[in-house]
Order: sequence, then C-alpha cells, then structure tokens
Amino acid sequence: MKSITRREFITRASLLTGSGYTAVLSLGLIPEAPAHSLRLPGNGTGKKVIILGAGLTGLAAAYELGKLGYDCTVLEARDRSGGRIWTVRNGTRETEVGGSEQVARFDEGQYFNAGATRIPHHHQSVISYCRELGVPLETFNNVNEAAYLYGEGLGKGKLNGQRLRVRELHNDLRGYTAELLAKAFDQQALDLPMTREDQEKIMEYLKAEGGLRTDKLYRGTAQRGYLNPPGAGDNPGKLAPPHELMEIIRSGYADPYFYNTADYTYEQQMTMLTPVGGMDRIVRAFEKKVAPRIVYRAEVREIRKTENGVRVVYAKPGEPAGAEKELTGDFGVCTLPLPVLREVANDFSSGVQRAIDFVEYNRSGKIGLQFKRRFWEEDDGIFGGISRTNLDITQILYPSSDYLSRKGILVGYYNFGGRAEKVGDLSLAERERLALEQGSKIHPQYPQEFESSFSLAWQKVRYSLGGWATYTPETRARHYPALLEPDGNFYLAGEHTSYLTAWMAGSFESAHRTVKAIHGRVSRQ
Ligand code: PHE
Repeated sequence: MKSITRREFITRASLLTGSGYTAVLSLGLIPEAPAHSLRLPGNGTGKKVIILGAGLTGLAAAYELGKLGYDCTVLEARDRSGGRIWTVRNGTRETEVGGSEQVARFDEGQYFNAGATRIPHHHQSVISYCRELGVPLETFNNVNEAAYLYGEGLGKGKLNGQRLRVRELHNDLRGYTAELLAKAFDQQALDLPMTREDQEKIMEYLKAEGGLRTDKLYRGTAQRGYLNPPGAGDNPGKLAPPHELMEIIRSGYADPYFYNTADYTYEQQMTMLTPVGGMDRIVRAFEKKVAPRIVYRAEVREIRKTENGVRVVYAKPGEPAGAEKELTGDFGVCTLPLPVLREVANDFSSGVQRAIDFVEYNRSGKIGLQFKRRFWEEDDGIFGGISRTNLDITQILYPSSDYLSRKGILVGYYNFGGRAEKVGDLSLAERERLALEQGSKIHPQYPQEFESSFSLAWQKVRYSLGGWATYTPETRARHYPALLEPDGNFYLAGEHTSYLTAWMAGSFESAHRTVKAIHGRVSRQ
C-alpha cells in the first residue's frame, strides 16, 4: 500500500465523485481491475433478484449481484448446479427424456467432462474467474500430430479404411501444395506483380514450409514420421515414404472431415486450457460463494411480470400443480435455455416468445469410455489431442491429464447435428456398441481393454434440451435482438444472448451484461 499524508488524502478524496471504487483506486489502495472483471460502484440496497437456473450464467450473476448488495435467490430444477458444465464421475446418475436411468460405474478418480471441456486462451472472463476463485488450470491438448485420422467409404483410393497419423496428412498435403505452387512459379504461371527477389523469397518459404528438396519436389520429410525412428549406435532411422497425392485425394482424406480448420479457428488455437480435476471445479468454486442462495429441485412452472417486479411459480420436479410455491422479486434473470422455456408458462413479450420458438439449438452427444489401461499412451504415443473420422463417432478425445497413470477415460464420440441425433436415438447399450465398434477401427485395443461407459445426448438431457444455441444470419437478425432487451423487469441471459454461443465465456459475458443493466437501472432510480 502506498503511504499518503492526511492532507493528500483529503485533497484527493474531495476530488472524488462518490464512487467507492474510484476512490480507493485513485488512492492506490487496490490495483486497477482488468477490463474483463466486473467491479461496479454503488449498492443494490437489498433489492430482490430471482435468478432462474444455476448454470454458469446464474451462478456468476448471483455472485456478482451478491457482491453489490442484492438479495438473490437462484431457482435450480436439478439437484446439482452447473447446467451444461458437468463432470461425470463414479455414481453420477442421469435419466434422459424418454430414456432409462444410467449410473456411471467408473473407478474413483476417473472422470470425463460431459459438457464444456476446453477453454480458449483468450476467453478472459473464464480465466479471470479461475484466477479469482482459485481454480487451477492445465493445458487442454486440442491438437496432436500423433493422433489418428480414419476415413471410410469416401473413395476408392488405397488409403480408404486405413488410419493415418495426423502428421502424415498434414505434411504430405503441405508438401504437395508447396510443390504445386513452386512449379507454377517456375513456369511463370502466377500472374503476380513480383520482383525476382520477391519470388526467391517466396520460393525459400515454400521449400521450408513444404519440406521440398533442392529440386523443389516433395518426396516426404521427417516431419511426417518414420518407418523406424532413429536410435542409438548405427540406427539413423528410416523415413516413411509419403502417400501419393492422388491416393490421398481418392481415399477421401482431402474431404472436410479432415480439414485442419477446427484446429486453426480462433477458438481452438493452442493453448487451450481446462481445470485440473474436471470442469465442474469452476462450478464448485462458485457454489462456495453463493450456495445458500440456491434452491435445488425447484422447477420453474410460471414466469410472470408484475407491475413493479416479477413473480415466479415453481415446484419440485414431478409435483402436481397444487404443490407449487411462489416467489416475488424486484427483478428476474432468466437463464433457462430456450428449448426449456418453450415448456414454461410465461407472459414474455411476443418478440421474446418468437425467439424462444425459432432460435435453434444444436444436438450434441458424448460418451465416456473407461479402459483398463491407457493403450493410446502406452502403445500409440498419444498424449491428449483428438482423432477424427467420418464415422458417426466423429472424434475421439484423449485425456490431457494424469499421463502415465494406469486407467483412463476417453471421450469415445463427440458429435453434432444429424450424427448426434442418430446416435442419441439409440439405446444406451447400442450407443456403447456403436462407440466400441467404430472406435475399434482406430484403436484395435478397444475390445480387450474396455470396462464401462456413460453417454449423453444433450438434446435429451432434461433442463438443457440441446447443446447450445445455433443462430443463422436470419435468426440472429430477426429474433436475437428481442432477447437482449429487458422484458418488464425480466432479463434474459445465457450463452444464447451472446456472440460466444457454445462457450462458457458467452455465459459469463452475458451474466456481466445483465448485472450491469440491472445495476444501472437501480442506480438511476
Ligand atoms: N465450445 C464447444 C467445444 O469446444 C462447442 C464448439 C465445437 C464450438 C466446435 C465451436 C466449434 O467443443
């Protein structure tokens, strides 16, 4: 703390305009908060806020409003908070809509993130909450050149139905495209206003980037891997020959399933992060701050605007209408996913009602598969990362934690859209069979090592009914704006009220936006 004289204190204090925060800031008593953390001046003077849903948005809103002196109650239909932030461990139970009960039978200490699992390094709101609440993060290895690609039925090439290491395809395609470009340069086939010197520079770049030989041809490189890796004594290693370009193309490996764009997108560029011990560590950390505010097993049945506030009717899941309870408050924050809101009686404006009906949600599924041993690490040298395929399973995610330990849980599928719907419509046993059958094509060790599974189809998970909001340019233009306006004293919040849909940062930023809006209104009263 900087020491200041009494006189200085009085002079500086007299310059202040009433904000406690600015006051202590100007005195150098606390460091300035980073732009992404929420520090608002003023006080909510005990105004009552009813928050619907204890997912990330509801938790963060309760936490921030609580800091400002609001009296919050969070109604949560489930007997757990976190919503789509959910880590499945031994004993976790779930019964999907129309499904049978599932109980996770995993070893103690084993887990997988059934919902959110990775945090982009630029999602400051998430990272700053982890910092503020003391949630340790580790690297989530989203990209791994040693993982596999497996394409089947996409063409007649020799590589069809064969698994490739990601590095083989990456480097072969990079090499051949560099070679094609180099040839076009040599034949002056590129109509670019370039000096000789520019051309030489580009050529040097292509050679380095594509691993071209001095004759500018691609003939494979160490980057794509070895038949026998180098070792001690007289073993210099034996390079693997490259796949032929035409075989790659005719085997379907130039098809969209295998594009790298997923890894290169802004959200998925390394470094990605994840909490040590499971994504629900973030939820537990918020619970420590707001637990007394949460009413569990409180299913919202009616959402009503009153003259100066809000009224919410709720009951225990399955309880008949007569057993309902009612809460009134000054403001409401409704974080329920839109497909859930479709089934709740409400008197939202017609614009909000239309958005509730027309904004679509993605279908998405995951299965956790526990194996006796980490064969992907022991046999295949895969430590974290993702294998990709055109089969229904779409991808296999390897754990980025506890390397070299004995057992592990793989995410045996993580799919979207039509494939997620198809797999989600299967019985639990059929989902497991499909994951094992298709996964065995990439990892023949599956049948030998498999122990138990737990699967989710998010479109069927009660109180979520979807993976995340998916806007088209049309629904964004037509329906999104209505969700951003206060409706009486209700505010809609959640990832669906952001441009960061499908990410935890969308929830946090929308929580902040809502807290600012409510507090702004109260401060002006
Ligand atoms: N954020 C989610 C994930 O990391 C959903 C998502 C998938 C978003 C792919 C964009 C692209 O998987």
